[in-house]
Amino acid sequence: MTSKYGPWGIVAGGSDGIGAAFAHEMAARGLNVVLVARRIPVLEAFAEEIRAKHGVEVRTVALDLSASGALAELASVTSDIEVGLFVYNAGGDDFSTPFLDKDLATHLLLVHRNCDSVLEAAYRFGGPMVTRGRGGVVLVTSGAAWAGGATLATYGATKAFDLILAEALWAEWHASGVDVLSLVLGKTDTPSMRRVFDAKGEPYGEVADPADVAREALDHLGDGPTWIFGSPDPTGASPLGALSRRDAVLVMSRAR
Ligand SMILES: NC(=O)c1ccc[n+]([C@@H]2O[C@H](COP(=O)([O-])OP(=O)(O)OC[C@H]3O[C@@H](n4cnc5c(N)ncnc54)[C@H](OP(=O)(O)O)[C@@H]3O)[C@@H](O)[C@H]2O)c1
Repeated sequence: MTSKYGPWGIVAGGSDGIGAAFAHEMAARGLNVVLVARRIPVLEAFAEEIRAKHGVEVRTVALDLSASGALAELASVTSDIEVGLFVYNAGGDDFSTPFLDKDLATHLLLVHRNCDSVLEAAYRFGGPMVTRGRGGVVLVTSGAAWAGGATLATYGATKAFDLILAEALWAEWHASGVDVLSLVLGKTDTPSMRRVFDAKGEPYGEVADPADVAREALDHLGDGPTWIFGSPDPTGASPLGALSRRDAVLVMSRAR
């Protein structure tokens, strides 16, 4: 792990949920980690937990990935370390509503965090990996990327952007020794997921464990371009691929 993806890994959105599970698993495998999130007390407490449990170096960077300039700042404060693995995890949407029920500025912030900043992370941190001929980039995406769905318009569109971006970068970079993985997830038990279901007063149903997600993704970093967690055929086609686009959209809309 450290010779191919070390000595440092960054988790963008790395203080709770799936990002925290990635940080644990990366640290357990010997990587020093940089954790990025907005809430400083949560971030610092989690960093201390990782240090105590795994004995690796941990840096925290308090940033809002929806803000312009965030990735330039992250690159600047990590310019003294070699980053061999970048996991772009932050990306959930706590407020799933019909398109016009959300104000335009909120939509645009989601697009900035889930598209602009993801692209900028891949560019700024993937470039040096390609030059070195080793490294890994994981873009966490979602089953919402398979087709459009009511109340998922902006979220699903950003996740499709991430999926396609990762696949294209895999095609460009895998021969240079840099692994890129588009990680497609279904419902996973995180604080963000709980907020969504609690707000709707709905039961969580069957949910994946973030620790299993992180472990499996790191085990399969080299099996890109796409890994569908929980699928019987994780490198296979979209589960909606046999449907017409119209039927896929209707299925996605009913699933909400
Ligand atoms: N959970 C699911 O059921 C599910 C299903 C499919 C796909 N996914 C995908 O899995 C990924 C992780 O989801 P998640 O449920 O763990 O929740 P999430 O809200 O995407 O991620 C939570 C982490 O990201 C940080 N974060 C959120 N917004 C940020 C921002 N603007 N700037 C900096 N950090 C930010 C949070 O800390 P702060 O709040 O302190 O900033 C926290 O560390 C997402 O990409 C999501 O699309 C999740």
